[in-house]
Amino acid sequence: MNKTKQKYTLITGSSQGLGKAFAEICARKGQNLILISLPNENNGKLAKELEKKYKIEAIQYEANLTTKEDLYKVVDFVKNYRINMLINNAGIGGANKFEDVSLSYLNEIVLLNIISLVSLTHQLLPVLRKEEEAFILNISSLAAFAPMPFKTVYPASKAFVYSFSRGLKSELENSNIHVAVAHPGPMPTNENVAKRVKALTGMVKYSVLTAEETAEICLEKLFQKKAVIIPGKFNWFNSLLLRFVPVPLQLKILSGKLKPEATKPQAND
Ligand SMILES: NC(=O)c1ccc[n+]([C@@H]2O[C@H](COP(=O)([O-])OP(=O)(O)OC[C@H]3O[C@@H](n4cnc5c(N)ncnc54)[C@H](OP(=O)(O)O)[C@@H]3O)[C@@H](O)[C@H]2O)c1
Repeated sequence: MNKTKQKYTLITGSSQGLGKAFAEICARKGQNLILISLPNENNGKLAKELEKKYKIEAIQYEANLTTKEDLYKVVDFVKNYRINMLINNAGIGGANKFEDVSLSYLNEIVLLNIISLVSLTHQLLPVLRKEEEAFILNISSLAAFAPMPFKTVYPASKAFVYSFSRGLKSELENSNIHVAVAHPGPMPTNENVAKRVKALTGMVKYSVLTAEETAEICLEKLFQKKAVIIPGKFNWFNSLLLRFVPVPLQLKILSGKLKPEATKPQAND
């Protein structure tokens, strides 16, 4: 039984960056929120602020989505609510030499970027099915379109998100659920990424959008029922380039750019 007649948007990784921007915009549109992030004070603070500012209900839930236990707890908790939008945003990455990082570091990326996204989507489909109209927005990256040395697992995980989302969208064609995948380009979000984005040179620096701009475009295109969303003209152009530049040349260029960055395992992207 649903606890309430109100509808909610569920956002993972909502405490900062792109997830926070989604939360703010959805709240402004009057949507109630279920905000999921790692345990820390940011998510609770955000929920309170949004409730006060927009007179909506914002429920915050602390969970480490890389653990099976927390994933099941989240599913158990949220399936009692009416949910008409799921934004699978939480994701991690970073630039490191593959053989230098720990296996647990690599597992974290796969568990968060792939396993938690697939699991939440699978477990919440019956909940989304109950609504007249529902949306799933999966956050990939421009990195999905190019294999990358010194990032290896991150772009591969985002290519998975692309492929999964396209397949699921087709499977749910003619249903009440619309699935879209978004491929943001560089955004200054957490400290590490912000530093990296600030250091961008050449044409690529024109592709930088804020998290707020990116979230705004993603939601607009989601509601227009686009299947693939590439926010920003420069990012769209770059995604085209990546399709036409031969992979060996891409790898050579990216290797030159990413090798100096590949220091210690900590950055998100
Ligand atoms: N920033 C970019 O340039 C960029 C470009 C392309 C794509 N993306 C994608 O956009 C999405 C958001 O990126 P962002 O840069 O906004 O990230 P961010 O600023 O690092 O924020 C990540 C969010 O995910 C949460 N999170 C991290 N690990 C988690 C876990 N194990 N369980 C639950 N929540 C977890 C974080 O919670 P805490 O606050 O508690 O840590 C935070 O709310 C990601 O999927 C990323 O791959 C980003």
